[in-house]
Parts: sequence; C-alpha cells; structure tokens
Amino acid sequence: MQTSNLTAIRDIAGKVGETVVIGSWLQGKRSSGKIQFLKLRDGSGFIQGVLAKSEVDEETWAAAQKLTQESSLYVTGIVREEPRSQSGYELTVTGIEIIQLTEDYPITPKEHGIDFLMDRRHLWLRSPKQRAIMVVRAQIIRAIQQFFDERGFTLVDPPVLTPSSCEGTTNLFHTKYFDEDAYLTQSGQLYMEAAAMALGKVYSFGPTFRAEKSKTRRHLIEFWMIEPEMAFVDHEQNLQVQEQFISFVVQSVVANCRTELETIGRDVSKLEQVQAPFPRITYDEAIEMLHQEGFDLPWGEDFGAPHETAIAEKFDRPVFITHYPASFKAFYMKPDPTRPEVVLCADMIAPEGYGEIIGGSQRIDDPELMAQRFQEHELSEEAYAWYMDLRRYGTVPHSGFGLGLERTVAWICGLEHVRETIAFPRTLYRLYP
Ligand code: 4AD
Ligand code: MG
Repeated sequence: MQTSNLTAIRDIAGKVGETVVIGSWLQGKRSSGKIQFLKLRDGSGFIQGVLAKSEVDEETWAAAQKLTQESSLYVTGIVREEPRSQSGYELTVTGIEIIQLTEDYPITPKEHGIDFLMDRRHLWLRSPKQRAIMVVRAQIIRAIQQFFDERGFTLVDPPVLTPSSCEGTTNLFHTKYFDEDAYLTQSGQLYMEAAAMALGKVYSFGPTFRAEKSKTRRHLIEFWMIEPEMAFVDHEQNLQVQEQFISFVVQSVVANCRTELETIGRDVSKLEQVQAPFPRITYDEAIEMLHQEGFDLPWGEDFGAPHETAIAEKFDRPVFITHYPASFKAFYMKPDPTRPEVVLCADMIAPEGYGEIIGGSQRIDDPELMAQRFQEHELSEEAYAWYMDLRRYGTVPHSGFGLGLERTVAWICGLEHVRETIAFPRTLYRLYP
C-alpha cells in the first residue's frame, strides 16, 4: 500500500461519493450476522466502516471477521453522509488489508484501575477521551501563543538548568552541572524580567520542575508554564491582561473543540460563562469569607485546596485573590505602598474546585528594598547579582504572572486529576513509561 495515497479521516468531508483508502486501527466492532460495523480511528478522527455480507467479496468479509481490537489495517471504502454519526460520515467498506492482527490488547472497553492505565499510558493515549484531551491541550497552547503574539509580546526561552531558585528552595530538583550544583528550573520568571527590560513585553512557554512531595490531584513534578513579563505595567494592568487572556483561551477552545469537549463529557455552558472581567477579592476578604464558612484559618496563613475550593464555589468564573501577606509570598513581590505587610500580587482561582491556575505580581523595582529582601530570605547576593543589575541599570515598574498549563487543561476539560492532561505525566513515584 502506498501510504501517500491515504486519506485522513479529518478530510473525509470533501470526499463524499468517492472511494478512499484509510490507514487505521480498529477501535472496536459489532456485528448483526449479515452486517459488520467497524469503529475505525486514524489519529485524525473516527469513522464507522460498514460492510454487508451480500455486497463484499468473501475475502473482505473474512478479514473483517478476524479483526481484533487495535489491529492495524488499510480500509478501502466509499464515503457516505450519515447525519446520525458524530462525524457526519460513514464508510461503505469495499476492501480490507490487514497490517497486523493484534492479540491480547490490554486495555479493553471494561473499567480499569488508574495504576493499570498509568502503567500503560503509551497505549491508553489511544482511547477517544485521552486523544480528545490532547487535542484540547494543543488548542489551548495555540490560543495562548496567538493571544500574546497578536499583542506585541516576544517569545523568549529561559534556561532549564539554573544555578539558583526562583520559588524557594524546598522543592528544587538537584543535579550536577559538571563540578557545580544545578537545579531544574522552577520558573523562568527571573530571566523573563531581564528579557522584559530588553524587549518590553515577553512571554515564555516551557517545562518547569518541582520536587513536590505532595500527592494531590493538582500537582505534577514536571509541568508546563506560560510566563508573561511586562515592563511599565502595574498590578492593576497585570490583572486586566490575565482576565482577557484566560477568557480568550477558554472561548477559543469552546469555538474550536466542540466535538472533543463532547467526547470528554464537559459541560460547555460552564465554560461559556468565562468572560472578563473576573471578580476580585483581597486576601482579607477571602479570610472573612472562610470564617463565615466555618474555617478557622488565622490571618497570615496560606490557603490550601479546601480553602480555595470554598472561595471558588461562590463565583461562576475565575476569581482573583489579591494582596496576600508578604510573609509567605515570594521574595520579589512588591509591597503595597499603602500597607507594606501585603504585596501587590494575585492568584487566579479557577471555578469548580480546580484551584490556583495563575500566580502573579508586580515586582520589586527598588534596589534597596530588593537588597533587604535578599537578606531577609537569606539569598546569596552573589548568586543573584545579575538579577540585582536589573534594579541598578534603569529600573522600571514591571509585572508578570505564570499560568500552569496542566491545571488549565484539567479545568477546561473538567478532569478529576492533572495526570490526564499531559501525554506522559511525571507524578510522585511515577517515572514510567
Ligand atoms: O504560583 P507559582 O509558583 O508562580 C511562579 O512560579 C511565578 N514565578 C510565576 C510568575 O509570576 N512568572 O506557579 C505558577 C502556576 C500556579 O498557579 C499553578 O497553576 C502552576 O504554576 N503550578 C503547578 N502546576 C502543576 N503542578 C505543580 N506542582 C505546580 N506548581 C505550580
Ligand atoms: Mg502560587
């Protein structure tokens, strides 16, 4: 078979009435004795192949009968319109060439446990739901890049191997860099600040690593982050970019991934509500709300997942929690000039219990305050000397944020756990496959 002569299922719409050949896998089949229905997939889409015993030659009929789940085959057939099918088309099969008859495919239509599926992630990806999630993820990435590219941001890639930390030292991934110590990046932010001083508005999109010993449905060890950084942008403008950005991404998925969202079983009406502006509450107001809900969290403590969920439940779109206490936030966040014990930061909490998807802030631009923070946080001035230079040579107000891609995918797809949002998740205690 000439693979160059194949038609992709996604292009089938333009081929009604024509005979095509599709390179495919058999997802499943059913038979009524005289008619066989083949559920075919080729990666680009799904189509049902139909063959009637009375209309095909014996060889083709027998080949169809032999087919097992995940067998690979070339199917020849005539494309027909079929309004009852999800794709709107069907294939009247006229010929079958089996490439390989698969035996004992481990993932059957019955229910499997999560460990069983995770051990076979390389095969699990073939299932319609997992495939749909990957398509939505790709659309989210496309929308993210489109949003920033169309608004004058330049894509800059920060390093993956770094000599120091950005988000504290507790979850750093250590490695050797010849004779030096190095860490896998937790966040590209500090480098993006340098890039913003050179290019104005920048964003990065890359993998980040956190050796988090937390086994929750929101944490991955390796995850992808989008980190915009903007010179001459203050806290308020930073929030406006974020709410416009998230509305754009969600509406882009709604517009382009209807079929996939349906396959995943997502309630699209919940996504349609996600339109800027987003509500804003301060940390103080959030604490107040939590006290009314019966939590006894004292002022000055960080929120955990149950707190975030309780707050998110009060809103039908993402909510910003702003002005957290400086005491437990990162060293680079700018204090509120009217109230220095809190910082000009915001976490964006997704609706429906998906937790924090964005962390961002205005950055300290004053060299003296920055030097003071290095001391308070016991950070080596030598290691961060280059970062200090950004405050020494033409410092300006600037802000930025980081969006966690996998949490965003989990929320938009309505998934229980972030482990299904990336092809090969790295979770606590899992490095295989
Ligand atoms: O809030 P974080 O730690 O912020 C930063 O790293 C900043 N330096 C970003 C910036 O301002 N440029 O992380 C940002 C986001 C979180 O809101 C969350 O969505 C995601 O990254 N995230 C994780 N996602 C999956 N697994 C983990 N272990 C994550 N840790 C953070
Ligand atoms: Mg955070």
